[in-house]
Amino acid sequence: MCGIVGYVGPKSSLEVLLGGLRRLEYRGYDSAGVSIIAPGGQLETRKKAGKLDNLIAEITSHPLPIANIGIGHTRWATHGAPTDGNAHPHLGGPTSKLSLIHNGIIENFSELKAELLALGTKFNSETDSEVAAHLIAREFDKTGDLPTAFANVVQRLHGAFTILVIHEDQPDVVLAARRNAPLVIGLGDGENFLGSDVAAFVEHTKRAISVGQDEIVILRADSIEIRTFDGVPVIPVEFTVDWDASAASKGGWSSFMAKEIADQPQAVADTLMGRLNSDGSVRLSEIDGLSADDILNIDRIIMVACGTASYACDVAKYAIEKYSRIPVQVELSHEFRYRDPIVTKNTLIVAVSQSGETMDTLMATRYAKEQGAKVLAICNTQGATLARESDAVIYTHAGPEVAVASTKALTAQITAGFLLALFLGAGRKQLATDELHGLGRQLLKMPALVTEVINNLDLARQLGKDMANAKSVLFLGRNVGFPIAMEGALKLKELAYIHAEGFAAGELKHGPIALIEEGQPVIVIVPSQRDADSLHPKVISNIQEIRARGAKVIAVAEAGDTEVAQYAEHVIYVPKSQSMFAPILTVIPLQVFALELSTAKGLDVDQPRNLAKSVTVE
Ligand code: AGP
Repeated sequence: MCGIVGYVGPKSSLEVLLGGLRRLEYRGYDSAGVSIIAPGGQLETRKKAGKLDNLIAEITSHPLPIANIGIGHTRWATHGAPTDGNAHPHLGGPTSKLSLIHNGIIENFSELKAELLALGTKFNSETDSEVAAHLIAREFDKTGDLPTAFANVVQRLHGAFTILVIHEDQPDVVLAARRNAPLVIGLGDGENFLGSDVAAFVEHTKRAISVGQDEIVILRADSIEIRTFDGVPVIPVEFTVDWDASAASKGGWSSFMAKEIADQPQAVADTLMGRLNSDGSVRLSEIDGLSADDILNIDRIIMVACGTASYACDVAKYAIEKYSRIPVQVELSHEFRYRDPIVTKNTLIVAVSQSGETMDTLMATRYAKEQGAKVLAICNTQGATLARESDAVIYTHAGPEVAVASTKALTAQITAGFLLALFLGAGRKQLATDELHGLGRQLLKMPALVTEVINNLDLARQLGKDMANAKSVLFLGRNVGFPIAMEGALKLKELAYIHAEGFAAGELKHGPIALIEEGQPVIVIVPSQRDADSLHPKVISNIQEIRARGAKVIAVAEAGDTEVAQYAEHVIYVPKSQSMFAPILTVIPLQVFALELSTAKGLDVDQPRNLAKSVTVE
């Protein structure tokens, strides 16, 4: 969950590093630091606990010399409290000529540290990362060859790591290695970059290479070399980043989250682009790797994800089962991986992840592949580990999502889930073609309907502000509204730090209704009343049950639903849509409600406490 940047080239390395760290700060912000090697050859390091601004203040009061090579790090603490001493970079060796930054966890650091202590090594931090710095420095003193020393050491490290190293004695090269953590290379003209993700360098270049598992990078201004840990050369595969630096900046919005909420019509439209023909037929060329027989032989789909992404899976489950009649179960990645699940070659694993670096989800998909299952990823980050390790990938095209609380990635994931449902439905021939195409044409309407929702959020905003002192908010939903209730609660938890809980509306009377007391705010996602088998009457009953016990009800309902207005204090209306697709609309007022309530409390909506954008450790 840390942000990592490396640079070598003609620019001021400090400027490149700080610019990259600013865009990566959402990955973790407990501390930040940089190391550079000045033209005279001396290694200089500045590091500070707290956010990037603290480091900038430190550098202002203790300037660094101009340099053209360096590494930078913004930290989400795993081992050791967020202090100056535990901040990265860490220096290695008795002469501190080596500097190292690390993203991940070195699981065998204790035994390695004991080995070094026995040799008299002095440590300056409580971190696992510093162990690697000293090991590499010692190995370099022995071998005299930095890449060899680097390779010898990283092979000994267990766990998850992206490591960057520079050394005074080799002032033209940045070394990098990755195992179970993200690393991408940015290719420039007479300059090269390294980053945890492309946001680190996208303002400088859109040419990128993803570094594979157990690979080492030897990066110079005019060359890059990639090898496996045991020295075998790797042929790099270049890709082009399809968004620019402005997309990763606030662009005048008060927060990245506000910007990304407003980006949702484009995120949904871009995710549909090229995949849904005007007649409503679906074309998913990304999964041509799954043959017609593969699709017919799928006897079960298991969707694995965490957090918000898991709620996208919960919504997709309803559509995939309804349109393709393939049984779907949704599992939290970290539970699936360790419960000895039943997976066969006819199981399709669908892994959903915005970052594509969530270790829980990576471990789940790796396990499933070992059991012989095929893995289809739905991912928002090009070249991410999950995408590269899957048999096929449907990219969501939501653009960079910087705010830690996920918004546009979710609506894009749900959109991708609907595309997959229609695609599988066609492949399994469960619905008549014209019915499927009709649904596809309804899906094509969603970006415009999302725009309508975005343009009518005043009530949701006002309610968020008015309820700034709420201590608890409950969320109810039914059918596809149930995952949205869960997501609304998660948004409020992670942004406003208050108790919030989502329930299936039908479940309330089986216990949770005991929570209802006078004045308890409850937000209810109300289904359309237009469908023949609508659950609208049941949800109205649920609303009456809680009102009878003092609840203050805020309903999110379909335009034209005047009945619900009789029972709710407030009704936030969203446009009429195909009922199955309504989650793309009903989730948006909940996002804004949480954003405004958090803002009214004076909290940081982009970087909520204790969180990180991408959880790259188990
Ligand atoms: C979303 O608001 C959360 N920050 C979190 O639940 C996130 O969705 C989860 O960690 C999964 O991340 P991923 O989509 O990158 O795998």
